[in-house]
Amino acid sequence: MIRVLLHRWPGLAGLLLVTLLAVSGAALSVFPAIERLASPQAAGGLSVGDLAARVQAEYPGVEQIRGAPSGRITAWWFQDGTPGAAVIDPATGQGVAPVDASPAERWLVNLHRQLFAGDTGRLVMATGAGVMLLLCASGAVLIARRMGGWRRWFGRTRGRLAARLHVEMARIAVAGLALSALTALWMTASTFGLLPDQARAPLFPATTSGQTGIAPNHIAALADLPVAALRDLSFPDPTDPTDAFTLKTDRGAGYLDQGTGEVLAWTDAPALSRVTDTFTMLHTGRGAAVIGLVLGLMALSVPALAVSGFALWLAGWRARPRIRRNASAGRAETVIFVGSEAGSTWGFAATLHRALSEAGQSVHVAPMTAFDPARYRAAKRLLILAATYGDGMAPASAKGFIDRLEHAPALSGVPVAVLGFGDHSFPAFCAFADEVTQLLTAKGWTELLPPDAVDRQSPQDFARWGRALGRTLGLELELVHQPVQPATEALTLVSRRDYGAQVQAPTAILRFALPRAGFWQRLTRRGFAQFQAGDLLAVLPEGTPGVAPMPRLYSLASGSRDGFVEIVVRKQPGGLCSGQLVALEPGDSIRAFIRPNPGFHAGHGRAPLILIGAGTGIGPLAGMIRANRRARPVHLFFGLRARDSDFLFAEELAGWQRDGRLARLTTATSRGPRPYYVQDALRHEAAEVLAMIRSGARIMVCGGRAMAEGVTAALTDILAPAGLTPAVLKAEGRYVEDVF
Ligand SMILES: Cc1cc2nc3c(=O)[nH]c(=O)nc-3n(C[C@H](O)[C@H](O)[C@H](O)COP(=O)(O)O)c2cc1C
Repeated sequence: MIRVLLHRWPGLAGLLLVTLLAVSGAALSVFPAIERLASPQAAGGLSVGDLAARVQAEYPGVEQIRGAPSGRITAWWFQDGTPGAAVIDPATGQGVAPVDASPAERWLVNLHRQLFAGDTGRLVMATGAGVMLLLCASGAVLIARRMGGWRRWFGRTRGRLAARLHVEMARIAVAGLALSALTALWMTASTFGLLPDQARAPLFPATTSGQTGIAPNHIAALADLPVAALRDLSFPDPTDPTDAFTLKTDRGAGYLDQGTGEVLAWTDAPALSRVTDTFTMLHTGRGAAVIGLVLGLMALSVPALAVSGFALWLAGWRARPRIRRNASAGRAETVIFVGSEAGSTWGFAATLHRALSEAGQSVHVAPMTAFDPARYRAAKRLLILAATYGDGMAPASAKGFIDRLEHAPALSGVPVAVLGFGDHSFPAFCAFADEVTQLLTAKGWTELLPPDAVDRQSPQDFARWGRALGRTLGLELELVHQPVQPATEALTLVSRRDYGAQVQAPTAILRFALPRAGFWQRLTRRGFAQFQAGDLLAVLPEGTPGVAPMPRLYSLASGSRDGFVEIVVRKQPGGLCSGQLVALEPGDSIRAFIRPNPGFHAGHGRAPLILIGAGTGIGPLAGMIRANRRARPVHLFFGLRARDSDFLFAEELAGWQRDGRLARLTTATSRGPRPYYVQDALRHEAAEVLAMIRSGARIMVCGGRAMAEGVTAALTDILAPAGLTPAVLKAEGRYVEDVF
């Protein structure tokens, strides 16, 4: 709710206005610093009396002297029938520069304060400041949620690039932006007279001494007043003995006798005027040029936040299929919840929605993040379609669902069915959907259907579940869904290197030419325009005509910067896709698309990397080492069967060791008189491994499930003396696996 109502919609609605405010404000923040540097400053002990005397000596017709918070002194006079004005050097009382602001500054001030449209413009800009304040408050709550609490404000960010950039910038700038917005609102309220903060001059005194001619430096009230406190001193008409000096300081305003210097009347400024002065200083930077510049710099993040925020909204909007005639949450008999990351589960939900609606039901579809049982007043059943990501984690549109479910009471008489979407090649198959099912049971929800799963977006699995649902509801439900695949590209094989023949495990490193990325891909840095080792290549095998093929995922052993697409494939017994790939010859083509896998990226930074892989699992790890041009310390543990048959990347690894991309290589061969596995190698080098982990190393494991389990067991023992466990490192994102 916060994300949508208090952040997304105000952000989209106020995008241009807030950006205009911020950019013009950032440009204006430069002027106080220039003014401060260009204006001669008064010496610490100089009094207003001495200053006024100096100015009067230079300009006998002086009428007014003003002091700005920046330290700038300006004077106005009337001499020989002509008015004059200048910025004054307080040391001499002489004019040194013209008073007028530059045309550029005046133009910017007019734009920033009132859009060249007077009071109406002021109100529009104040609305912009209000939107900015709302965005800051809701944004701060969202950052705290995303990071897992306020204390982790500066923790590591994860997820897509646009989301990461948005959070990284916002968490630095949000305090400054909130301060600018708050002070702007206060200043507008002050300008419109809504605050009792204006220093009012007292009534002009009825009587004066009737004398004239006292020198300003002989007036006690001026001799005691430091120049920094002066706001305005107006000189009396010397030919009119009933006239008086008018003095305004940061403390108040009053009148001084022009014959005796006596204070004739005085009122202190209200306490709130101090707040207004401080807020004005903070907002404009006048009197605090450095703070002004810092706030100006922070304001520059607003256009970038607007662009990245808009890109995030657009990506979500494009990924979610339109559900036509979606019933409202309060009226629907069936409520479908969707947990999706890449968007395909939304397509299944749309098919289910259409089929149930055609059968006469009123159906509401919503992301799992919107789960709020209090709203489903007419619901007779809930259906949850949930994908799984990472190591059994929730997908993007289900973040926070478990927490909400945990804190909500079960709806009596409203049974629930859970359908998991996953991929059997991941060890934690549909683990998130299982977690949801377990929690539903524990919280006492009634089961509508036994939990079921759809493997690799299989239309057949989905149709089978649909028939079971139909039987329970007494409906004829035939769910025909053809998943829409992302646009594929043709990849042409340029070279292949073969291994493993002697150990009955034909394996090939396949290198394809990098296809030219389209305009949209380049703009959004997606697909073949931007990928890295550890992301996935989804390959569509050639299949039976008329049947949509399911993509098979292979870890990428190269990044877009390498200029080619590389994968390592081992021929699986009876494997359709691996068989076709291993049979490719240079010049042959396949169809494929990129699936980002940010959870298995090497990341930036200087912390050491411990890479552990066996067999084809070396692929993404080799790609990461190739990309390690800044020579971050990397220790690779590589498990193979026999050195003379399946030592994949042998030559490159030797070269990378020479040029510093790979600090250390440990191989473990499993064939031979004494089988030796990577987990044995880890135990053998336990002391070094522990030392690296203590110095902040990240562990990345890629390979078969049995190997990954062996590695976890070995690391459990290695970590124990340090009071650490693999689970702790996993929770910190320092131990990641890509297991098949
Ligand atoms: C990076 C990545 C990680 C995945 N992790 C798992 C997993 O741990 N368990 C699982 O069953 N499926 C996993 N999957 C498969 C997805 O859950 C499955 O493809 C799902 O249908 C995607 O739905 P969506 O397109 O709506 O996000 C993963 C897919 C990707 C791309």
